[in-house]
Amino acid sequence: MKITVIGTGYVGLVTGACLAEMGNHVLCLDLDPAKIRILEEGGIPIHEPGLLEIVQRNRTAGRLEFTTDIARSVAHGTIQFIAVGTPPDEDGSADLQYVIAAARNIGRLMTDYKVVVDKSTVPVGTADKVKAAITDELARRGMTDLKFAVCSNPEFLKEGAAVQDFARPDRVVIGADDEQAILLMRALYQPFIRNRDRMLVMDIRSAEFTKYAANAMLATRISFMNELSRLAERVGADIEAVRVGIGSDPRIGTHFLYAGTGYGGSCFPKDVKALARTAAEYGVPTQLLDAVEQVNDEQKLVLVNKVVKAYGEDLGGRTFAMWGLAFKPNTDDMREAPSRVIIEELLKRGARVQAYDPVAREEAQRVMQGPDWAGLSYAEHQKQALEGADALLIVTEWKEFRTPDFDTLRDCLKDKRVFDGRNLYEPELIRTFGIEYLAIGRP
Ligand code: UDX
Repeated sequence: MKITVIGTGYVGLVTGACLAEMGNHVLCLDLDPAKIRILEEGGIPIHEPGLLEIVQRNRTAGRLEFTTDIARSVAHGTIQFIAVGTPPDEDGSADLQYVIAAARNIGRLMTDYKVVVDKSTVPVGTADKVKAAITDELARRGMTDLKFAVCSNPEFLKEGAAVQDFARPDRVVIGADDEQAILLMRALYQPFIRNRDRMLVMDIRSAEFTKYAANAMLATRISFMNELSRLAERVGADIEAVRVGIGSDPRIGTHFLYAGTGYGGSCFPKDVKALARTAAEYGVPTQLLDAVEQVNDEQKLVLVNKVVKAYGEDLGGRTFAMWGLAFKPNTDDMREAPSRVIIEELLKRGARVQAYDPVAREEAQRVMQGPDWAGLSYAEHQKQALEGADALLIVTEWKEFRTPDFDTLRDCLKDKRVFDGRNLYEPELIRTFGIEYLAIGRP
């Protein structure tokens, strides 16, 4: 099939590359020439395991192309995926200007039947706005009898595992009301889904809602566990034992029950806010959602509070090693990363921070620059971050942090103290090395 993907951000690029891998002829459009240049030179503008290989393979095969030419992109695909950004507005609602602009371009230039697919995470009712924008453009051209369909096809890709998630989805959600569009979308995704039950065709608004509901549910589980972790510490229970204890109940399940330094990334914080915003617009109160967000904001400070408890409010003259900057492992994404809040709070109190992250350094330097961040420096490797530091803070659970040399750790740290925001170690074990271990929700 001929596919156009509008927006070569994270979602668009993964979608385009994975669809090309199944034999489709995919043209990816981006208005940012710098991004297209990187792609045309055989690179990718983001860090995502496995993606570079797929992009290169399909580019070489001629099934994956890139352009900044809007007319060419509209002419190319029968299916037009809109995968542009929906950054939060000041009030937390999703900003739809790029989605609507993409829709208008399609309406302005299309000459045959198109299936326009909202892939970006967009509030309930957006498909109607996309339809209206296209209809309006067609009307201007006096071409109102030109047929098109609008579908919602939310993505559930996890950064760091996006290629795998796309190739083997738990489910594909398609919101549509047009028979031909449903047929085409089924055909497009069939190769990825051996089990037909995983293709969930529903009405458009439910599909749009499903995306927010999924992310809000997952964020709720995390905030719930984070809240429980604070209580566990007080009552002398171990949140890790409790996690296994409750997760073994199939009604609860084991996923997304890890207490930590709070959720970050491009989806949970934004989507929880946007859903609450939508609810407010409809006059529906959202006590739970509001609490999920509040608990998460507080959770980002939990490590800082532990540091302050140990060292006092004035951290002048102190140096802290930090392992991990990205909001989670296997990505260089720094959006809403807890590390940013933690570093800011430590620097504010006069401390210095020596941070190491296997891939996010460049991105971290980009988002934390200027005089306010002068106390932050970067290490080339784990050990370098430790040198001369009073204590270590672990913020991202990269695999390479899981089994460190505890002797080296102890010998490098002046105070032999580890604040672990990801509960990576067995408290009994690490303490046998003479290290003071302060984790999340553990006695
Ligand atoms: C998420 C959704 O999982 C995905 O389906 C959606 O399409 C986009 O948003 P992503 O943001 O890539 O994906 O990361 P995810 O692995 O879900 O983690 C989100 C945040 O939650 C991270 O900061 C992570 O550290 C945190 N988290 C996750 C926890 O604190 N505890 C957990 O148990 C799981």
